[in-house]
Amino acid sequence: MKVLVIGAGGREHALAYKLNESKIVEQVYVIPGNAAMEPVAEIHTEIAESDHNRIIQFVLEHKIDWVVIGPEQPLIDGLTDKLQNKGIKVFGPNQQAAQIEGSKLFAKKLMEKYNIPTADYKEVQNKADAKSYVKTCELPVVIKKDGLAAGKGVIIADTREAALSAIEQMYGPDEEGMIVFESFLEGEEFSLMTFVNGDYAVPFDCIAQDHKRAYDNDEGPNTGGMGAYCPVSHISEDVLKRTNKEIAQPIAKAMFDEGYQFFGLLYIGAILTTDGPKVIEFNARFGDPEAQVLLSRMNSDLMQHIIDLEHKAPIQFEWKPQTYVGVMLASKGYPDAYEKGHEVTGFELNDNFFVSGLTTENSKFVTSGGRVILAMGNGNTVEEAQQQAYKNAEKINSDNLFYRHDIANKALK
Ligand code: AMP
Ligand code: GLY
Repeated sequence: MKVLVIGAGGREHALAYKLNESKIVEQVYVIPGNAAMEPVAEIHTEIAESDHNRIIQFVLEHKIDWVVIGPEQPLIDGLTDKLQNKGIKVFGPNQQAAQIEGSKLFAKKLMEKYNIPTADYKEVQNKADAKSYVKTCELPVVIKKDGLAAGKGVIIADTREAALSAIEQMYGPDEEGMIVFESFLEGEEFSLMTFVNGDYAVPFDCIAQDHKRAYDNDEGPNTGGMGAYCPVSHISEDVLKRTNKEIAQPIAKAMFDEGYQFFGLLYIGAILTTDGPKVIEFNARFGDPEAQVLLSRMNSDLMQHIIDLEHKAPIQFEWKPQTYVGVMLASKGYPDAYEKGHEVTGFELNDNFFVSGLTTENSKFVTSGGRVILAMGNGNTVEEAQQQAYKNAEKINSDNLFYRHDIANKALK
């Protein structure tokens, strides 16, 4: 079977790695991919992720059996719909169903209607209403831009002044535009990947934990994710069961009952509050860097799981016993402005390093993005896995990268 992965980042690197290991996959292609994926896939950087017509042409010419879409943008842009219209099989929801990630308000309304636990919210349509709302709202308040923001569109304001300046920042010179306010939830965050085909939902029985803030001790701005690990042993089996029963099953059914055709991976971002797990966000695709640690730990065949999901057949996960830790090396300045074009050396082209933001120039790897490489480690204990991940991180040479030093520390407490 021939599989095409869409995307260019570390998550897609891990997807290509894992699919290449599958007994039923003979060839993995990636559009556009990056040069670090070459050992496991045929990459086509000459085709843009946004060039849907060329992607369709490629799929037909190469007789691709399945397309696996990594990032959110092509889903939101309707690539799935266009491929499916040509009779091509796609893992990744269509445009309508991808709204669960693309619109905070869509997700909030659905959760409200179907009683799925999440933070209370209030949406406003313009700057004036936003400013007046924060005069009296409870603090801290969480302020979210509607639409895709790559994890960077959220500000948590502890004071009214901070809320006002966040509003100024989000609107800029504009007066109109929707933002969503949410009450602040307290507790530990976790990520639960769930296979969904209509009303059939199968959560991974292995939770991952991301590190959203840029700096050590969860300080600094929100990012796309600065490191992840799995399993998260201090979050109990019971929490997983509850998240399945109270969130995964009902949201799949809600989408189904509302007429949305979700086929793909639903990412449940949750906080474990004293009242149980509550949803922070849904994504319509694998988390990045959660995918890298989860797929590294997965022993069973990802492609087989996708086919089982297609047929609503039982999905039996198998996991390696080790803990997997990934530490993100990001360009200095990320998630704000950062420089590109800095040379990076010292890493190997294997599954110890999942590459998201590198390109090749004159046969050298240079930075091309905010998040650059995830250094991986695994071990029989969290400490061992952490040590190995940091040893790999230290192998990487560049004058313009930084990383957090406390990835997976929550698992040590
Ligand atoms: P989101 O883009 O919605 O995932 O939000 C990014 C990050 O902001 C989350 O991973 C949380 O760390 C934080 N966050 C978002 N919503 C809330 C909330 N209601 N309460 C507390 N923290 C939140
Ligand atoms: N790591 C969080 C995300 O992929 O949205």
